[in-house]
Amino acid sequence: MTAVPTILVFDSGLGGLTVFREVVKARPDARFVYAADDAFFPYGRQDESKLIARVLQVMGELIVAHRPDLVVIACNTASTLVLAQLREQFKTPFVGTVPAIKPACASSNSKLVTVLGTEVTVKREYTRTLIREHGQDCVVTLVGSPRLAELAELELNGEPAADADIAGEIAPCFVTVNGARTDTIVLACTHYPLLLKRLETLALWPVSFVDPAPAIARRVLDLAGQPVPGAAMSATRFAFTSGKQPSPALQTALRRFGAKLETVSGLSS
Ligand code: DGL
Repeated sequence: MTAVPTILVFDSGLGGLTVFREVVKARPDARFVYAADDAFFPYGRQDESKLIARVLQVMGELIVAHRPDLVVIACNTASTLVLAQLREQFKTPFVGTVPAIKPACASSNSKLVTVLGTEVTVKREYTRTLIREHGQDCVVTLVGSPRLAELAELELNGEPAADADIAGEIAPCFVTVNGARTDTIVLACTHYPLLLKRLETLALWPVSFVDPAPAIARRVLDLAGQPVPGAAMSATRFAFTSGKQPSPALQTALRRFGAKLETVSGLSS
């Protein structure tokens, strides 16, 4: 790996910014490309075989265009489906984002843990295997949210969702069994930490929300090494498969997530 690596962070949309933010903090000197397959958003509603083919094709184009040293798949819906094929097909190292079931179950006191993800992520064998292997003595409730990722995108674009809409999506996460209550909710979609403050306010009772982004940034450091002291931050390159230009609200949000804005490029969808 080069001393100042090019790191490509990939998601279906803007949820990957919650991972990007932590990776930028860990390696502020790296060259970053943030790629969003927004022409195919939301991944949570795509047919599996079409999504596998789509991610492999878009990743192939991105690797040719940007020559990353490392790719972060900042999307649970893609990682739980296609990470193995990506690693088989491309030589570039990949860091995936998968539901943080192990740390959540290890830290839960009530032993009632909920995994909140897209409808497809919570159904995947990958997720069920994580629960079998790391669920320990916890009762794990799986909640697939049809709309939360889209509500998070709107919020980031300056159109906040109604409380009732968010509350309706998260209500099934709160479970009571013999007087014990859910105390830990795994955010198994990278879009959801965008709504963290709203989730905390609308929670039926206080819980810990587990965001995997800091752990992903640590994994990036394991592979890419520590930052080069004194290296200047370079402008983040953006590649949106829709070719859309970010609105002023989005540009402000991108800066808030640690991006340095200069150019915005489209990519064929
Ligand atoms: N951000 C994505 C995830 O982590 C998915 C959102 C979507 O495209 O449905 O699962």
